[in-house]
Formats: sequence, structure tokens, C-alpha cells
Amino acid sequence: MNFSIASVFACVVYISSSHAQASSADQIQVNPVEFTIDNVKRGRQFYTLHCVRCHGSDGRGDTEMREFLKTAPADLSDNQWVYGGTNSIIFDVIKQGRLERDMPAFDAELNDERIWQVLRYMEYLGGKRP
Ligand code: HEC
Repeated sequence: MNFSIASVFACVVYISSSHAQASSADQIQVNPVEFTIDNVKRGRQFYTLHCVRCHGSDGRGDTEMREFLKTAPADLSDNQWVYGGTNSIIFDVIKQGRLERDMPAFDAELNDERIWQVLRYMEYLGGKRP
């Protein structure tokens, strides 16, 4: 009797914990670059070099470039995402681009570490502080 109650309980715990793991695993991929002032500053340098002309210095995408592009540059500071807000999706958008919508690919200009630093700067633009 005690044994069967225990095994039902264990089973319920097992199912609910494996469910929770499955949903968090596809939501979160941890940025391997730490959220430090130095990484935010490095990210800002690359952002200034490559992203400001379309997304603007505040990240809101409200730039003159919107007149020349198929799609208005996205607001990177509002925590709303066209393609999804996980680190891995945002990383992929920057690396591969979304060329059909005039978001360029940066795999030639930025190595992976630098892209992750730009993601840290985007968090800063969104109001987070290290
Ligand atoms: C030539 C203009 C241009 C440049 C330069 C540019 N982008 Fe974009 N970006 C766009 C456009 C246009 C979109 C909107 C695409 C869409 O809505 O489908 C976009 C979308 C994005 C998205 C997706 C946002 C979402 O809501 O899912 C991210 C992330 C992004 N850009 C990051 C960057 C970063 C980081 C850089 C610099 C390394 C950069 N972009 C440089 C034009 C640009």
C-alpha cells in the first residue's frame, strides 16, 4: 500500500519534472558570454559599427533606412520578437540574416563571440544592467 502510493507519487513527480525540463530547454540557450560591463561595451562597439545605421543608437529601429528597406528595421529594445526571443534564435538572425526581409547576415563580419557580445548590448538597450 505504502509502496504503491510512493510509486504513484514518484511517477507524478517524474512526469512533471521532465515536462518542465522539456519546455525550458527549447526556451533558453544560455549566452556563453557573461553579462559584464566589458562585454556590454564590446557589444556596443560592434553594434555601433554594424547595426546603428538601420536599428538606431537606441535600438528602436526608427531610422531613415526604413524608407529604403523591404521591412522596417525591428525594435531591438522592446522585448518583442518577430522571430522569437530566445538567445539561440536572435543569434541565428544576426549570423544568417533574414535576407528576404533586408536584415543582412553578419557571419563574415562578426565571429560568434562578438555576436554574443552584441546580444549582451541588446539586453542593455532593453533596460537590463550588469
Ligand atoms: C541594412 C539594415 C540593417 C542592418 C545594418 C542590421 N539590421 Fe537587423 N534587421 C533589419 C530589418 C529590416 C529587420 C526586420 C526583419 C523582419 O522584420 O523580418 C531586422 C531584424 C533584426 C532582428 C530580429 C528582431 C526580431 O524582432 O526578431 C535582429 C535580432 C536584428 N535585426 C539584429 C541586428 C544586429 C545585431 C545588427 C548589427 C550586427 C543588425 N540587425 C543590422 C535591418 C538591418
